[in-house]
Amino acid sequence: MASSSLILACVVAAAMVSAVSCGPPKVPPGPNITAKYDSNWLEARATWYGKATGAGPDDNGGACGYKDVDKAPFLGMNSCGNDPIFKDGKGCGSCFEIKCTKPEACSDKPVIVHITDMNEEPIAAYHFDLSGKAFGALAKEGKEEELRKAGIIDTQFRRVRCKYPGDTKITFHVEKGSNPNYFALLVKYVAGDGDVVEVDLKEKGSEEWKPLKESWGAIWRLDTPKPLKGPFTVRITTESGKKLVADDIIPADWKADALYKSNVQLD
Ligand SMILES: *[C@@H]1O[C@H](CO)[C@@H](O)[C@H](O)[C@H]1NC(C)=O
Repeated sequence: MASSSLILACVVAAAMVSAVSCGPPKVPPGPNITAKYDSNWLEARATWYGKATGAGPDDNGGACGYKDVDKAPFLGMNSCGNDPIFKDGKGCGSCFEIKCTKPEACSDKPVIVHITDMNEEPIAAYHFDLSGKAFGALAKEGKEEELRKAGIIDTQFRRVRCKYPGDTKITFHVEKGSNPNYFALLVKYVAGDGDVVEVDLKEKGSEEWKPLKESWGAIWRLDTPKPLKGPFTVRITTESGKKLVADDIIPADWKADALYKSNVQLD
């Protein structure tokens, strides 16, 4: 309500004073999508970005901080979400079933996409900016190019639990620049809700869980005047409150810009 009357005020003001500019009207976002798994489909519009059959961003990364989203387990089946989907990074890693309803080249068969990035100029209450590969996967066989040419399509979507192949475990990346007083951790490949709402760390021999703060995307950080000493046990909490502990997952001799694969996973 407030935003539509604001837009109206802008239009009126712009008409009266030609120097006033409000930019393109913003589409009000839908309510946040949360970890509810009912069967209702919601309406969304979808676009695509990057290479026609690629994973989206040029660097195969995105606003969640994941890298190599063209490789397993995402395999390029990823997407940007607008605010109620990306949720300031909280939506990173969440999974959606999406199917295309218009135009005619749509197959109507759902595919599953992972949120790895955000879109900044939403064109609908819910807007998926898909990788070229995921967008093409919504087409009838042989009509991928025709669908990509349409550019903007009507879709339906619903949140689903993330499933990964059995050997895909929750994986941590200690981010570049981390040191004993600043520890930044990216969490990825979380099955189930897929998105993480809390990360805590415990130093070996300590009983105290230290909460990390959201940094950006799927990256969590801990700033501490007292140097941290590994190994660290890491506990994550997902959106619906499931917790999982990876014991001593970060070794005593941990390094910045290094990947640590756990042997634990949610379902
Ligand atoms: C949607 O989620 C974001 C990120 O958690 C939060 O900041 C925002 O307040 C939420 N919006 C609503 C309407 O709940």
